[in-house]
Amino acid sequence: MAASCRTVAALLCLATAALAKIEMSELGGRMDVKLYVDGNKAIWIDMNASAFGALQPGAPTDEWDETWAVPENNDVPYNHVFAAYNPAGHPGYDGFGHGYGTPHMDIHFFSISEEDRNSLAQCSSFPPCPVDNVSAAIFDYPSSRVLSDDFILDSTFGGHAVPRHGMHWLPKSDYDVFTPRDIDDSWPATPPRWLSCLTQASGGSDEGCRLGLWYPGISPILITLDGKTVAHEIMVSVDFFKRLRDGQISNPYIQTFPQVAEGLTDMNPPMYPTNMWAVYDEATDRLRFGMDLQRYKLFDCPCDCASCDEEMQCTSCVLDTHGVKDGKCQRCPHKIDGYCMPNSYCMSAEGALNGFCKTDSTFEACEMDAFFKPVACPLDLGCGVMPECTECRFYRGDAQCSACDGSWIVNENATACVADVGS
Ligand SMILES: *[C@@H]1O[C@H](CO)[C@@H](O)[C@H](O)[C@H]1NC(C)=O
Ligand SMILES: *[C@@H]1O[C@H](CO)[C@@H](O)[C@H](O)[C@H]1NC(C)=O
Ligand SMILES: *[C@@H]1O[C@H](CO)[C@@H](O)[C@H](O)[C@H]1NC(C)=O
Repeated sequence: MAASCRTVAALLCLATAALAKIEMSELGGRMDVKLYVDGNKAIWIDMNASAFGALQPGAPTDEWDETWAVPENNDVPYNHVFAAYNPAGHPGYDGFGHGYGTPHMDIHFFSISEEDRNSLAQCSSFPPCPVDNVSAAIFDYPSSRVLSDDFILDSTFGGHAVPRHGMHWLPKSDYDVFTPRDIDDSWPATPPRWLSCLTQASGGSDEGCRLGLWYPGISPILITLDGKTVAHEIMVSVDFFKRLRDGQISNPYIQTFPQVAEGLTDMNPPMYPTNMWAVYDEATDRLRFGMDLQRYKLFDCPCDCASCDEEMQCTSCVLDTHGVKDGKCQRCPHKIDGYCMPNSYCMSAEGALNGFCKTDSTFEACEMDAFFKPVACPLDLGCGVMPECTECRFYRGDAQCSACDGSWIVNENATACVADVGS
């Protein structure tokens, strides 16, 4: 929005005063939603506010989504809008309405076609999405040079790789929202509290796990797929709208979208959100969610290994299958206060298939069913077949031993305990 557009009236007047610059699609489906593109300056959806406020909680299986084409001949990199309503929220959640476990809408502005999104973003099972050759495109990340330092990959709840979407990068500013801690506010804990959260959220008893409160209930999300940035997302709860409507937060609500340090993007044309916003107009009962856009530089050179460095959060460089060219930087999965955090909190477990595991005297699980309910491990793989290993971690599905019993020591590739022959 223009600098002068700081009032509800000014924002909504865009629809009439600047109509010549606006392309609009009248969109059907479950809600009366219109999509606007204002040149290369902004993109937003506009809907019946009362209808959004009346969206009801429900089971995860009541999720629904709609896809709308972005009008052609525009100057934005987006191809379509894909809005999904989650009546139960989705991970991270704890069954007490914290985290993202509250009814909300994921509004994705995708740069690739719906067909490409559906064919590239696939998982052999879900949730969680295992790292295998089916999901290779989801786990293929873009160069860290086009990724904001404020987006991180979170590995709790089996990670956030989702079929038909891609890999979700969560805002660092929501770290307290999606990070499980104990009821007394301590964290992290071993075994991982997120598994307790999952058990609670699936209808189990209170296991003492809590997530932070999602407030005011709107977050920027980034989606990558097949080595590229493919969507900017506004994730927004029904409660957020109620706070906006009832004057508990400022209307319009404007939040900076996490910026990329070098001002580079791999979307073409190279536009990137400056901020995302929400505005409610009581007189017309309309509600808008949108993003203002700015011009970035196009990141068009392949990421070579020489550009992989710590500052760019690259931890290593992986060459493609054809040889030395087109190496890709592997990004540090969690960078918090300048330090890399482990990719997986999954420890002390047997039979993990996907880095999702927990074994103790009362519980053993390796994956979640359609209702996010933990189901028993089907196989005894990984740590369970490592004799003398007392602490085992999982990295991308591979078991790695980190501590051995008694006089045994971990071998050079962390796949077994071997006799300590002395040094
Ligand atoms: C907006 O939604 C409300 C609640 O669903 C409905 O009662 C109302 O008729 C809708 N308004 C319009 C203009 O469609
Ligand atoms: C994926 O991997 C499995 C075994 O790891 C193999 O049997 C299968 O052919 C592979 N599929 C593709 C499409 O590469
Ligand atoms: C791990 O190291 C052992 C020798 O210490 C070797 O025999 C084995 O092949 C290695 N495994 C892998 C997966 O590299």
